[in-house]
Amino acid sequence: MCGIVGYIGEREASSILLNGLKHLEYRGYDSAGVAVINSELTVKKKAGKVSGLDILLQTDPVIGKVGIGHTRWATHGAPTDLNAHPHTDSDNNIALIHNGIIENYAALKKKLAADGCSFKSETDTEVLVVLIRAFYDEFGNMAKAFRYALKQVVGAYGIAMVSTFDPDRLFVARNGSPLAIGIGDREFIVASDASAIVQHTRQVVYLDDGEMAVIERDRYVTKRIDDDTPVDKEVEEVVFDLAEIEKGGYNHFMLKEIFEQPEAIRNAMRGRLDLEASTVRLGGLMNVIDRLRDAKRLIIIACGTSFHAGLVGEYLIEGLAGIPVEVEYASEFRYRDPIITKEDIVIAISQSGETIDTLAALREARNRGAMTLGIVNVVSSSIARQTDAGVYSHAGPEIGVASTKAFTSQLMVLALMAVKLARMKRMSASEGRTILKALHELPEKVEYTLSRHEQVKEISRAYAEVPNFLYLGRGYNYPVALEGALKLKEISYIHAEGYPAAEMKHGPIALIDKNMPVVFIAPQDAVYDKVISNIEEVRARNGRVIAIANEGNRQIEPLAEHVIYVPETLPFLSPIINVLPLQLLSYYVAVDRGCNVDQPRNLAKSVTVE
Ligand code: M6R
Repeated sequence: MCGIVGYIGEREASSILLNGLKHLEYRGYDSAGVAVINSELTVKKKAGKVSGLDILLQTDPVIGKVGIGHTRWATHGAPTDLNAHPHTDSDNNIALIHNGIIENYAALKKKLAADGCSFKSETDTEVLVVLIRAFYDEFGNMAKAFRYALKQVVGAYGIAMVSTFDPDRLFVARNGSPLAIGIGDREFIVASDASAIVQHTRQVVYLDDGEMAVIERDRYVTKRIDDDTPVDKEVEEVVFDLAEIEKGGYNHFMLKEIFEQPEAIRNAMRGRLDLEASTVRLGGLMNVIDRLRDAKRLIIIACGTSFHAGLVGEYLIEGLAGIPVEVEYASEFRYRDPIITKEDIVIAISQSGETIDTLAALREARNRGAMTLGIVNVVSSSIARQTDAGVYSHAGPEIGVASTKAFTSQLMVLALMAVKLARMKRMSASEGRTILKALHELPEKVEYTLSRHEQVKEISRAYAEVPNFLYLGRGYNYPVALEGALKLKEISYIHAEGYPAAEMKHGPIALIDKNMPVVFIAPQDAVYDKVISNIEEVRARNGRVIAIANEGNRQIEPLAEHVIYVPETLPFLSPIINVLPLQLLSYYVAVDRGCNVDQPRNLAKSVTVE
């Protein structure tokens, strides 16, 4: 949430900052702003998208080679020009941008106000810049003022700051919200993620919680905020290409990422199928695999789409490997005093690896003695670094706020884990071979399903104006129903609910009339006949049925207004295929409704505040 970028070097800062903000806009798009130091500090900021700031900077350019930029997802204070970042001290000598929440801002503000300080905005961030100024007036040293102020702060932050008092330095800090320093040739680009850095350099240092850096044109120092001790940081190489974070001819990132799924799931499998031993190889779990096999209980924690992947994971791991699994929203797990023992293994699933609820739940599990594992997409993200072991999903950068390829890659990793554990426990080599063959065939089936997108587009036209949708599925495809509903509501603003199909009778059936579209996920698996009965129940109440069914199933045609056919695979892999038409349906409905698919209102890609 909120994108942060900063620059110090020999080039004009504003265009680098603006470009960085365009890459970071998926993190929040309520307002945008920059602050650049020349002989004095110039701040330009505006409510709305980065394009608005771009126009402002074209008509009134700012000059300077040190600066910071921010794109905001509002927490404290409405998305107005005044509340936009950067925030400054009273006489415009210090400018600061912030991602996160300063939880004790009210107490700090009260104390500062009592000391005679005044405030211009409603934000928590402004309190910090005013506090830094107060310390600067006391110490006359900007690095010390920055550090002392941060020591007073309770909450999460990624921060960048510039000041006319120390014009050749850029100050950054991290506690809970990501911050990376890109190392260029006599220049540094800092950002809340590498997408704003990669076009300038691939050499990156990631700050850890409780660390700050003071950056000059040709050197930087990293240290602990609490006691000022220097920390040596490893320089890492960013692995993705610029092309991966551009739209590549598609109208939206979401559509591009939907169509990248064959490759994404190939990448999630690459090097992991052991054909000789009819099993799976997961290098990241090598040291913990025996403990996993013998675990009495696995607990999966995640949010949003990743939570839905976790639910499929429960069915997969229990069904194939026979290990009990619980799945919980990370935000609930953390605050309900969960009973965790040293025997438990907690698995965090996250695309970004930065979701604060998941991260906090993970820390809670760890504090209570559990071993922690991660299934994460973003390499070197906080969750990836803070777990004992894990598996990368290798979906590549996902920019669209609506998660698509990250979901199917997570499902693939979970399937691989389940097969690995099952082969160690109770699955025969011949079953293993059958599954490996099905896995091998899956990317082509995904490709084929996506090639039929025109049919889904056509169907979507009939539903662009409806106010509600219901999604129903059973077994492995119940979480797919939840995911279909989430996709539709987040990008089209149509109210949608997902339910286990049989649960409909216990309440949601009251909603069904001739205006209610009901999407049934109905592959020919063990519960197919039951799902058909549920379809009949909806038809009896004049509901409009859209069925996702296996190719060749003509029996379902008379029961549905529309049938979307998908290829058959093994039941436990079917979510990877069945979710595809649901992603496409939500995309086309949202486009028909004129919605901003990649930047849906009120949302941000990575939720780094509680
Ligand atoms: O990065 P994470 O996987 O931890 O993110 C979790 C959710 O915030 C995310 O899946 C969210 O629900 C998406 N917008 C869904 O499309």
